[in-house]
Amino acid sequence: MQIAMIGAGYVGLVTGACFSEFGANVTCVDKDVNKISTLKEGKIPIFEPGLEALVQSNVQSNRLTFTTDLKTAVEKADAVFIAVGTPSRRGDGHADLSFVFSAAEEIAHAISNYTLIVTKSTVPVGTGRQVAEKIRRICPEADFDVCSNPEFLREGAAINDFMRPDRVVIGADTDRARKMMREIYRPLFLRETPIVFTDLETSELTKYAANSFLATKITFINEIADLCEKLGADVHDVAKGIGLDGRIGSKFLHPGPGYGGSCFPKDTLALVQTATKADSPLRIVEAVVEVNDNRKKSMAKKIINACSGNVTDKTLAILGVTFKPNTDDMRDAPSLDIIPTLQAEGANINAYDPEGMHEAKSVLKDVSWCNDAYEAMAGADAVAILTEWNEFRGLDLPRIKSLLKHPIVIDLRNIYNPEEMRDAGFIYSCIGRKR
Ligand code: UDX
Repeated sequence: MQIAMIGAGYVGLVTGACFSEFGANVTCVDKDVNKISTLKEGKIPIFEPGLEALVQSNVQSNRLTFTTDLKTAVEKADAVFIAVGTPSRRGDGHADLSFVFSAAEEIAHAISNYTLIVTKSTVPVGTGRQVAEKIRRICPEADFDVCSNPEFLREGAAINDFMRPDRVVIGADTDRARKMMREIYRPLFLRETPIVFTDLETSELTKYAANSFLATKITFINEIADLCEKLGADVHDVAKGIGLDGRIGSKFLHPGPGYGGSCFPKDTLALVQTATKADSPLRIVEAVVEVNDNRKKSMAKKIINACSGNVTDKTLAILGVTFKPNTDDMRDAPSLDIIPTLQAEGANINAYDPEGMHEAKSVLKDVSWCNDAYEAMAGADAVAILTEWNEFRGLDLPRIKSLLKHPIVIDLRNIYNPEEMRDAGFIYSCIGRKR
């Protein structure tokens, strides 16, 4: 099986490396010359646990190659995956499909024998069919099928998510396409992974519905956490109490500063747009988007309140700036709202993140970047934990106390125990838990 993966970004790279691990010959194509030469040197432009080793071993086995030459890669491919970005269009929530359509056009000029074209990128309902029309218009004699195969990869756990998925969703119209997709995912069939075969539109919508549901679940528990604070209840116990109900499930009920990342914010907005356009508005998802946006602002307020309502000329230590641990991704990270709001209130920011600082430096200004958590806390008036990196879970509490001017800890990920923190002499503030 020869696979061309168009787009060597996060999804394309992980998917390409995993398909090659399954035994396919994969060529990852990207327009970015620097990215391709970095990959050819065996270096990975993003931080994703396990990816570098997987790429290197498959490159050594000659099953994984990198190129900027789309035409040659597509010519020899049995299947071409489109895994390019679909960013939110500035101003409205529509997904920008220009990268998808320009990939489709280039594929149309390169296609030779029967080729299966698969959209991996998250695309609005109807895009798969538009891709097919574009190709047919450019190359009427082309022999191809288009199918939809959304990704459900979590950053930081993407390889495991790919190798052991809860399910694979495939939208295809022909037996030929379904047969080929079955062949591509054969190793997962052998592991009895559920594969949901459906049509193109349903598959495309399933991806948006999944992400919007998860974003809703997080937003729900975040609002319950706020209510817990008002009522003196404990959100962790509520989450446990409801999560044990099999119909609800315990995952994605962890309260925090609001969801971020490359998918949830963009996909919830795009689904709202699709639904409005289809005259079938999704009021729940609309509310989720609004509540989550406001939450990031209210988190800055929470930090200010913990500092006696005033951070002017105070120094705050911020631990973690990425939208979640085990990634260097800063896209829609809550820190991007929280830190500038604190700065606007006159705070000086010392910050540390294990992997995200390189990315963060270009999007967060006037921050003193530190070499570790303790350096960030030295002489600071308070510390706020924004991302639950493992290395922040077991910090040396007496040392923190000796470093901070005031023993104020704001834990926006609830990684410490309120009672233990109080006993250790901290003024501890967290999300939805009894103090
Ligand atoms: C998500 C989906 O999980 C994945 O299936 C999809 O394909 C891409 O989008 P990702 O964005 O990598 O993956 O991260 P995820 O682990 O889902 O977390 C998203 C955001 O929700 C993060 O900001 C995280 O901190 C937040 N979150 C998650 C919570 O606040 N509470 C939770 O209980 C879970």
